[in-house]
Amino acid sequence: MNLVLLLLVPTVFYLASADPTVKMATNSLDASVENSAFQTLVLRRPHTGALYKALLPANLSGMEVSVIRLRSKTLWKKGTNFSGFTIPPRTSPVPHVKRLAIVYQNLGNWSSQYYSGPEYSLLTPVVGFKVYDASNVHSNSIIKLGLNTSGNPISIQFNALLNSSGKPSTGKCAAFYANGTVLLSAMGSAYTCYAQDQGRFSIIIPIPPETRKGKRGKCWVIGLVLGFVGMALMCYVGFMFLRMSRSKKVQVMERKADDGELFKTIWVGGSKMPSATVTRTQPVLENGGLT
Ligand SMILES: *[C@@H]1O[C@H](CO)[C@@H](O)[C@H](O)[C@H]1NC(C)=O
Ligand SMILES: *[C@@H]1O[C@H](CO)[C@@H](O)[C@H](O)[C@H]1NC(C)=O
Ligand SMILES: *[C@@H]1O[C@H](CO)[C@@H](O)[C@H](O)[C@H]1NC(C)=O
Ligand SMILES: *[C@@H]1O[C@H](CO)[C@@H](O)[C@H](O)[C@H]1NC(C)=O
Ligand SMILES: *[C@@H]1O[C@H](CO)[C@@H](O)[C@H](O)[C@H]1NC(C)=O
Ligand SMILES: *[C@@H]1O[C@H](CO)[C@@H](O)[C@H](O)[C@H]1NC(C)=O
Repeated sequence: MNLVLLLLVPTVFYLASADPTVKMATNSLDASVENSAFQTLVLRRPHTGALYKALLPANLSGMEVSVIRLRSKTLWKKGTNFSGFTIPPRTSPVPHVKRLAIVYQNLGNWSSQYYSGPEYSLLTPVVGFKVYDASNVHSNSIIKLGLNTSGNPISIQFNALLNSSGKPSTGKCAAFYANGTVLLSAMGSAYTCYAQDQGRFSIIIPIPPETRKGKRGKCWVIGLVLGFVGMALMCYVGFMFLRMSRSKKVQVMERKADDGELFKTIWVGGSKMPSATVTRTQPVLENGGLT
């Protein structure tokens, strides 16, 4: 049983928040975060290659967002190392642009608001980064970019994010990608996680299905109860069917017996001819006699 359960625990699952309302919430979060970051770029006319803290609207207070603008060439040659994210050299934006902006985020006390589910509990705040075209920060459109790391991993350092009360080595790295996929992987040494793409990340403890509470748990119980009721109903129906067919058989037999008696009285009069075969063959014989 335990083995089966272990096999059922997936290393890739879809967020409970793949449901549309939560998806909408993270979309509006993304929009707020990137707007703040780009406003910062416009207002501060930043030096290329320096990290700037973004000013956030009141409804994001508690989060930390910072932004860096750099040349794609520099990223390719040296990679970057900011906010706990080490992006390796030989990384390029897709499609290629001259300058790009990397927006780093720490969701802080908002983490569980956006990333919580029955499948896991968060051990660290959710942090992330996203890449944008920054060739022209004054343009009105914010263009998201893809990232090609030439197959090398991006590393994420969680050391500074773990507080002394929470340093469980049993945690797993979770990568929350924009498409709703959550990828779980083992932690590297010293609370380091590795990723292949931009996204949001945290260290989590997966919750086994049998101890899950909330909606899923209730569904499970309801399913079980419905299953039992369904089974009981089917047993009952089956039993009734059996009983009915049995009583029908008896009726048929009774009717046959009745018919037999009827024929007996008409055709054979007082003589004893109790078997059904006789009464059935009699009409045939009689017909033959008539024609
Ligand atoms: C924050 O508030 C602004 C309006 O002031 C709104 O447009 C935005 O969607 C809000 N962001 C979040 C994440 O709630
Ligand atoms: C997070 O903390 C800030 C203050 O630092 C507060 O304004 C905000 O409401 C908090 N958010 C949540 C979801 O508790
Ligand atoms: C990245 O920077 C941190 C300090 O901010 C340092 O401890 C770490 O070794 C650096 N990593 C790389 C790969 O340079
Ligand atoms: C990623 O970059 C490498 C070169 O480092 C290139 O060979 C590969 O085709 C690129 N992959 C994609 C999906 O663009
Ligand atoms: C430290 O972790 C505990 C739970 O492990 C949590 O309740 C607390 O808020 C965390 N403190 C900080 C400062 O993150
Ligand atoms: C979602 O995005 C991640 C990261 O880019 C990728 O590895 C995964 O295959 C994607 N999943 C789907 C279903 O598109």
